[in-house]
Amino acid sequence: MLKYVIKGPTKGVNSSISIEGAKNCCLPLLASTVLFEDTVTLTNVNLSNDVLLTCKLLEDLGSKVEISEKNKSIKVINKKKHKLIINYKYTSRMRAVVLFLGALLSKYPKNSIQAGKPGGCSLGYRGIDFHLEGFKRLNANHTLKDGYVKISAKNGLIGNTYKFPKVSVTGTANLILSAVFAKNITTLKNISIEPEVTSLIDFLNNSAKFRFIKFKGKRTIQIKGIKKLIKGSYKVIGDRINAFSYLCVGAITRGKVKVNNINPKHLKKELEILKKIGCEIKNDNFSISINAKKKLKPTNITTGPWPSLATDNMPILMAVLATIDGKSTIKETIFSNRYMAAPELSRMGASINIKNNKATIIGVKNLFGANCICSDLRSTFAIILGAIAAKGVSKIARVYHGSRGYYQLPKKLKKLGINIKSIT
Ligand code: EPZ
Repeated sequence: MLKYVIKGPTKGVNSSISIEGAKNCCLPLLASTVLFEDTVTLTNVNLSNDVLLTCKLLEDLGSKVEISEKNKSIKVINKKKHKLIINYKYTSRMRAVVLFLGALLSKYPKNSIQAGKPGGCSLGYRGIDFHLEGFKRLNANHTLKDGYVKISAKNGLIGNTYKFPKVSVTGTANLILSAVFAKNITTLKNISIEPEVTSLIDFLNNSAKFRFIKFKGKRTIQIKGIKKLIKGSYKVIGDRINAFSYLCVGAITRGKVKVNNINPKHLKKELEILKKIGCEIKNDNFSISINAKKKLKPTNITTGPWPSLATDNMPILMAVLATIDGKSTIKETIFSNRYMAAPELSRMGASINIKNNKATIIGVKNLFGANCICSDLRSTFAIILGAIAAKGVSKIARVYHGSRGYYQLPKKLKKLGINIKSIT
């Protein structure tokens, strides 16, 4: 199995990279393609493993998929009726394919759609109860048999109002997808306004004859069901989590990194935090530069739905804080088990104390190379950051978690001047 070997410490990197389109934007867009009669073209895509797996599912369902690595594009061509079963082999590997439940229900409401119910996850409890409750409001009923959710709306989907009990990114995208062709008007309240969700709204609006999804408040939208969607194209937004990850290579090495192909507005809170800890940040409309040459200061942070600090960026920041002199604290408000990088960073000598959803970090002068194991996508990057700062060699196992979202990760790190090797 693939491992990364990192020799540290690397100090004062001074380089630039371009990041890929956002994985979490590609996934709902790909699910939305089943709504279309003909072709959808996505550009600036992130050809990470989660996106490739989603393309495989699309092919399984009956769409033709053309991927161009050179042009960073995916073309999805729909000519025939889709299969209506999302096999558990997909939902067990990637929860986001649950988005196909909403999309297929929307396109084929009176048929029975089946999907393997996603199970446990390394981040903690992650249900799909909001998704199913929302579908029910639109007149779709489900049953659970042999681990599969079976859903249909015998009399068609009919618009209604649903208020999410808690902001949910995939829940919002799924309900939007399901309501596209529903009769009358659907109102969704307390929705996620993550840039990846507003991208989906923009894409659907641009592909229809008129803007049928409208904001009626900060977290409320109204969807006026339409008849059909024929063709579409969309340039995927830059990946704000990956952009932040590479900016933190600048922070942890106390160096300079420029990240291209990112809208700085999508990282407003994160950039505020980097400035607060003493990094110099410069940006234009498409790039962000960090200069972390001055002495950095500890801080206190709390995650939350966008525009607050993204939970995905928290483990990455935690690795940086572990190297800053003084006491920092973190409060995680989204997932119950988001500190999986902490014990691995502790193996390198970091001082991180976790109590419930809070972490207290006392920055140490030096980290030391160690063998570590990754357990989820973002903790992989946090461990890599620790290894970059650590004296000596770190061997990092189960890095396949990282390949789910970071495209060509070792190549990009090498470009930044990191001593990294892939071994099997
Ligand atoms: C999305 O997951 C992202 N995934 C995650 O990124 C990200 O960490 C998360 O949002 C939070 O920002 C994708 O976009 C593909 P949620 P999602 O529904 O949508 C609870 C990465 O690394 N909840 O917003 O699945 C849930 O337990 C991944 O790229 C319910 O209780 O997360 C959590 O506490 C990891 N019932 C909260 O809501 C539900 O039915 C927010 O989760 C749905 C959610």
